[in-house]
Amino acid sequence: MSSLLQVKNVTKRFGGVVANRNVSFTIDEKDITGLIGPNGAGKSTLFNMVSAVFPPSEGEIWFENHKIDSLPSHKIAPMGISRTFQNLQVFKKMTVIENVMVGLHTRTTSSLAAAAFRFPRSRKEEKFIYENAMEVVNFVGLEDILEVDAGNLPLGKLRLLELARALATKPKLLLLDEIAAGLNHQETLEMSDLILKIRDQGVSIFVVEHDMDLVMKICDKIIVLDQGEKIAEGTPKAVQNNQRVIEAYLGASDEEELTV
Ligand SMILES: Nc1ncnc2c1ncn2[C@@H]1O[C@H](COP(=O)(O)OP(=O)(O)OP(=O)(O)O)[C@@H](O)[C@H]1O
Ligand SMILES: [Mg+2]
Repeated sequence: MSSLLQVKNVTKRFGGVVANRNVSFTIDEKDITGLIGPNGAGKSTLFNMVSAVFPPSEGEIWFENHKIDSLPSHKIAPMGISRTFQNLQVFKKMTVIENVMVGLHTRTTSSLAAAAFRFPRSRKEEKFIYENAMEVVNFVGLEDILEVDAGNLPLGKLRLLELARALATKPKLLLLDEIAAGLNHQETLEMSDLILKIRDQGVSIFVVEHDMDLVMKICDKIIVLDQGEKIAEGTPKAVQNNQRVIEAYLGASDEEELTV
């Protein structure tokens, strides 16, 4: 079976900073793959390249036999890749359902001008968008607060909203950048159940997460970055016992110790 995503010898430089150095790995269909490493290891940078926020300095990224590393970011969602952001990107003055619907506008073909004048084709699209948005809002359990402005929601609900928006485009590959950051124990458990449920629907998931309990529980495979380089890859158990990984985390802050 060919892999869903292939990252081949990817390097990213920001001026003198090498955020990723010669990183290679693959993601298989229906797997949950974890990406871990101390602060500044280059995890978000890698996500930004896979979601075409910016291109690699060197190397290639392939998704389902398409080379995607030089595509503009708006071409990525229609191909089947979507993501959440470490720093939430919700519109505070829009309601829950509006936030999810905005995410879906990228998927339809009508121009914004056509949508504003509500041409017949656009009304059909609006119905399609609304129904799709309702489906994912129900799925993540936000149906009771559809009309609440995002600005009035607590963090736990905002993370669910960010997840709903990413799911609305029906991705084949979903990237979650610290989706459980700041959540309490109960919310984290609910989030991990939700992630497993998404995978059971056939979606491949790539997660960056500092919560090691969560990572070890849900991931089929884990990739470890340290100072931009891949230092280990394997099952949660293998990675947890890997000497290089233990040393990388011992060099990091207490908060990030690899204890499970
Ligand atoms: N847009 C950018 N411009 C310049 N430098 C950047 C940019 N994005 C990331 N970097 C640098 O690249 C390195 C890796 O950062 P990155 O955000 O990818 O790490 P991370 O593993 O996601 O860290 P954290 O766990 O803190 O989120 C850091 O030195 C960071 O300062
Ligand atoms: Mg990050």
